[in-house]
Amino acid sequence: MKEKLNSLMHEVQNEIEETISLEILENLRIKYLGRKEGIFTQLLKQMGNLPPQERPETGKLINEIKDKVTQLLEEKGTILKSRDVIQEKIDITLPGILPELGNLHPLTKTLKEIVDIFVRLGFQVAEGPEIELSYYNFDALNIPSHHPARDMHDTFYVSKDVILRTHTSPVQIRVMERQKPPLRIIVPGRVYRRDADISHSPMFHQVEGLLVDEQTTFSDLKGVLSTFIHLIFGSETNVRFRPSFFPFTEPSAEVDIACVLCAGKGCGVCKYSGWLEILGAGMVDPEVFKMVNYDSTKYTGFAFGLGVERIAMLKYGINNIRLFFENDMRFLEQF
Ligand code: PHE
Repeated sequence: MKEKLNSLMHEVQNEIEETISLEILENLRIKYLGRKEGIFTQLLKQMGNLPPQERPETGKLINEIKDKVTQLLEEKGTILKSRDVIQEKIDITLPGILPELGNLHPLTKTLKEIVDIFVRLGFQVAEGPEIELSYYNFDALNIPSHHPARDMHDTFYVSKDVILRTHTSPVQIRVMERQKPPLRIIVPGRVYRRDADISHSPMFHQVEGLLVDEQTTFSDLKGVLSTFIHLIFGSETNVRFRPSFFPFTEPSAEVDIACVLCAGKGCGVCKYSGWLEILGAGMVDPEVFKMVNYDSTKYTGFAFGLGVERIAMLKYGINNIRLFFENDMRFLEQF
């Protein structure tokens, strides 16, 4: 009887191991543990035929094997169930679901592109405060106290001498105060003006540039800015330098590109002139060098300032500056 039980145990073990579906496993359970016809039930019933002294030991053995079989069936059941779940849920032939990806704000993208170009040309990035002393924003840049830009209508005043910077040019002074030439910096940052319509926002972004060295000339300025424009708008873009005036540069120029929408033919965006103004520039005025104790008989330099929103609008064909700041996903998702 003992031997018979042992070989039965082996048989059950093998059968359970080879089972590949829950259905077959359930049949096995009925075959062995079924309450009426189950093999173990039968075995226990046959105990009556044994001599009384063998009964307790055999009974114990049968129950032990029965427990073991129950355990094996349960374990196998768990394995088969988890396999079934996986097979049901994962159809590896379906295309994958793409996770939603974020993207950079069009202004961040444009700013990064501008900065990258100047970094490649050897410029270093400098920064300065947005809440600025009027000394740095105006006086040190040769903008006298009666200048219209200092008017309450154009500038946000914090107090008499403290303002929100109206351009990134004050950082020119801050850098020159603490650094000797040669100098080659760009200054990306926010600026503020009391102005708001479809092409002006009270807060916008500029990138300032400043290069100071011995024998720097206006043609160096032309070379750097033309290279920049060709890299950002394409090498075919026509560039024009037009005489202008800024208190902190002499001579000064405004730089235009051929209208990106009509290619210079004339349209509503360029007001039928064929040209779009994109930045201000010039040779650093000796008066500015005087403010920072630079020797203007030895050093010359050029500076420029460009509006990031303006460049992004032209690059992407956006006709309303407010779109940048409304955070409408339908707009932002397109970049
Ligand atoms: N700061 C000037 C502006 O905001 C731009 C500029 C910068 C012009 C540097 C000349 C040189 O309009």
